Amino acid sequence: MTDTPNTVAFTPERLVKVKEIIARYPEGRQKSALLPILHLAQEQWGWVSSETMDYVAEILNIKPVEVYEVATFYTMYHVDPVGKHVIEYCRTGPCCLMGGEEIYNYLRQKLGIEAGQTTPDGLFTIKEVECLAACGWGPVFQIREKYYMNLTKEKVDEIIDELSK
Ligand code: FES
Repeated sequence: MTDTPNTVAFTPERLVKVKEIIARYPEGRQKSALLPILHLAQEQWGWVSSETMDYVAEILNIKPVEVYEVATFYTMYHVDPVGKHVIEYCRTGPCCLMGGEEIYNYLRQKLGIEAGQTTPDGLFTIKEVECLAACGWGPVFQIREKYYMNLTKEKVDEIIDELSK
């Protein structure tokens, strides 16, 4: 692995982590480090641009398309710019049966945006995702690593108020 003169570059601290992650895998298997390195990229830039994907491909010595296909497959990676808080909303059947559509409509109305959009103040982005594996506690949002479950309109108000501070 070589440090690249690309305009997109990890901070020195993250570059150390990148090297540690790559070292976990046998020679020639550096592609296995792709997911955690994409997480580091998203942590640094907030989303994963095509320039960032090219940079990661260069670091791992793989083809850019190998990064694109992974980054666009998993909804946990944001391949477009996002707001400070990304509300990942479960749109799968079990959550819908527990009132998810009503909660989702309420959220969109409250924020004045649709899925894939960001509020004008840059605070919130809504992203539709499939099952978040918390079906027994639906409707469910995920915001970063935190789950918000058994959602009601009142809980949505509390969450948005808290995150708007
Ligand atoms: S269906 Fe919503 S968490 Fe599984």
